Amino acid sequence: MSTKKTNVTGVVVGSLNMDLIVTGENIPRPGETLSADSFKTIPGGKGANQAIACAKLGANIKMVGRIGNDYFGQNLQNSLISNNVDNSFVLVDENVPTGVALISVNKHGENSISGVYGANMSLPEKQLIAAKESIHDADFLLLQNEIPVELNMSIAKYAKSKNIPVFWDPAPANKDYIGIMEFCSYITPNIIEAEEITGLNIKTPEQAITACEWISDAYPEITPLITLDKEGVVVSFDNNTKIIKSFEVDVVDTIGAGDAFIAGLAISIAEGNNFIDACNFANATAALSVTKQGAQTSMPNRNTVEKFLKI
Ligand code: RIB
Repeated sequence: MSTKKTNVTGVVVGSLNMDLIVTGENIPRPGETLSADSFKTIPGGKGANQAIACAKLGANIKMVGRIGNDYFGQNLQNSLISNNVDNSFVLVDENVPTGVALISVNKHGENSISGVYGANMSLPEKQLIAAKESIHDADFLLLQNEIPVELNMSIAKYAKSKNIPVFWDPAPANKDYIGIMEFCSYITPNIIEAEEITGLNIKTPEQAITACEWISDAYPEITPLITLDKEGVVVSFDNNTKIIKSFEVDVVDTIGAGDAFIAGLAISIAEGNNFIDACNFANATAALSVTKQGAQTSMPNRNTVEKFLKI
């Protein structure tokens, strides 16, 4: 008998940012001024990106977060609503503006991001109440690092006490958040974030394998997945560490690829698929996301991912 589930339910507790995206030949170096090709404002924030990615993949998703009472905040709400994310747990801060992210994208689609998190970082107590209320029927919880650490820790601990698996995207890298690992089932650091967690230097896929094994030994309850961009993802699973290759696509920009990856992973695991299939589903979701501009605007829907994977 199949144990596969459909229409899984998830909660994302996390950030909403308006992304101010400049695209050009190169990302400016310190002290350098460059003329660029285009400027766009596109809804983003790791939390909201993950919520929208999950919704487009067919999950019932609640977003818990905080925006300012301003134009960017309203735009971010609209984006959640038009992508079928339940936004009733997104609170409005009357005193602090909506978070923004300044993003430069070069001709290879690579990016660098500076976030000013604004309302995302305020009043954790109210957010925690909303988060606890939202989570009662969830199949999974997604967290990142663009909200207060106390909020992340408390909701992760609460989710674990309710046997709800916690998927943590430890981005942006920040040592202060590492305590959350006690409550996580899956974590998806990129190389920079894996270096922060392990203290190891990661320059090669072999070093990423060592780092993945390090995490697995130090935190046996966690399944670690270290994302390597084009190369794929290193996973430690069933006492075995290996690289699962990514898919080759034409890259427009990589903003939100990590968000697409963890969304695909969480959905596929919650639906009862085996771990390797879930990694392929996550890799496909991420690969398709980099073929379009922006974060929320680039998340693929379920049909597109399944067609891509020939499921
Ligand atoms: O992961 C991509 C996101 O990181 C962007 O949308 C930006 O808002 C930053 O939070």
